Amino acid sequence: MTSGPEHELDVVVVGGCGHVGLPLAIAFADRGRRVGIYDINDHAVKQVGGGQLPFHEEGAQVVLDRVLEQGSLEVSSDPAIISRAEHVVVVIGTPVDEHLNPNPHAVTRSLAETLPQFHDGQMVVLRSTLYPGVTAGVERVFAEAGLSVDVAFCPERIAEGKAMVELFALPQIVSGRTAEVRERAGRLFRSLTDTIVELEPEEAELAKLFTNTWRYIKFAAANQFYVMANDHGLDFDRIRTALATDYPRAADMPGAGFAAGPCLFKDTMQLAAFTDNSFVLGHSAMLVNEGLPLYMVSQLEKKYDLATLRVGILGMAFKAESDDIRSSLSYKLKRILEFRARQVLTADPYVRVDDTLSPTEAVLAQSDIIVIGAPHAEYRDLPIEVPVVDVWNLRGGGSTI
Ligand SMILES: NC(=O)c1ccc[n+]([C@@H]2O[C@H](COP(=O)([O-])OP(=O)(O)OC[C@H]3O[C@@H](n4cnc5c(N)ncnc54)[C@H](O)[C@@H]3O)[C@@H](O)[C@H]2O)c1
Repeated sequence: MTSGPEHELDVVVVGGCGHVGLPLAIAFADRGRRVGIYDINDHAVKQVGGGQLPFHEEGAQVVLDRVLEQGSLEVSSDPAIISRAEHVVVVIGTPVDEHLNPNPHAVTRSLAETLPQFHDGQMVVLRSTLYPGVTAGVERVFAEAGLSVDVAFCPERIAEGKAMVELFALPQIVSGRTAEVRERAGRLFRSLTDTIVELEPEEAELAKLFTNTWRYIKFAAANQFYVMANDHGLDFDRIRTALATDYPRAADMPGAGFAAGPCLFKDTMQLAAFTDNSFVLGHSAMLVNEGLPLYMVSQLEKKYDLATLRVGILGMAFKAESDDIRSSLSYKLKRILEFRARQVLTADPYVRVDDTLSPTEAVLAQSDIIVIGAPHAEYRDLPIEVPVVDVWNLRGGGSTI
């Protein structure tokens, strides 16, 4: 299929005010593409259109300022903007529900709702992390509507906070049913990155889920080793550092810590659902990673009369230097401590969406024990007078509890 009639916009990003949609949209705009954002979140649309990032993303503010100034980015909550674009990139959220079930219909339903905005000759690029088979489902939606639209699946693989570097540095996996579709999607992404890797859609869907699940399982292995060592009074981080010294085969062993956030856990659960919940390794990883906060509290109870003590948690985001609290295990830790400790105080210099947070100094002044929840760099050398639980060994004082 050719690219059809002239379009006012090269790309519209559906879900373009989100954590991965926004960096992608401004990256395309900064590389000379005429870009539109369509998002159902009115507030975020106003923020982005007014030059404000709805969340922290390193290096993104300067690019947003530049593309708005150049007039190469348009932001809208009106789906009609879709009809003006040659390429429509879909990067809406695809979370699992409270019972850990994926929603295989999220992307197809959102496209079905905006179907009147599409016309022959457009290219739809799916970029959300998809439950396997969703690309084929989207192809069916357009075929049944009689629309001749190219459908590609090109998964996003950046890590939050590094998008403005990784969008240009990481290879892009591009998948589509035909060589022409893959070539067309490849042309779009070559404006960002040099290396394009081609797959069939079903292979690419699994490639993305395998990538995140692999990482999640590695974190679980490290956390399980941590528990093993700690149960014997040994410091996992000291052992890990020693075994990896000048030994490349073990250099990728991660440290212990909260493996959380909006992607790794839910994508492991998507894969579990795909294998009819017989994914023993994935479920075990989930139990280990999600079990770490409770293990930490149980260890503290062995050492202290926790019910009489105030515990402060420093770092509520799901990872260092982030303001994103989605699926953060610091909140799981907080909830457990609320049952077991006298009082729980929390702080995070990045997080803006939790009005129960206190300033770091207040938490330090009032707490009998401090737990590092997210290893923000500014906690590394912070003077702390009371005992510190630091499974990350951020402060170099050891990781044992
Ligand atoms: N966050 C990450 O680090 C990361 C990395 C790689 C891939 N992903 C994947 O990217 C996808 C998006 O994740 P995210 O973290 O950016 O989510 P997000 O919730 O931050 O962003 C999603 C955006 O889509 C908008 N939206 C929701 N439904 C919509 C609809 N029907 N039409 C238009 N806009 C709609 C929301 O308002 C929001 O702004 C997910 O599939 C996720 O797994 C995320």
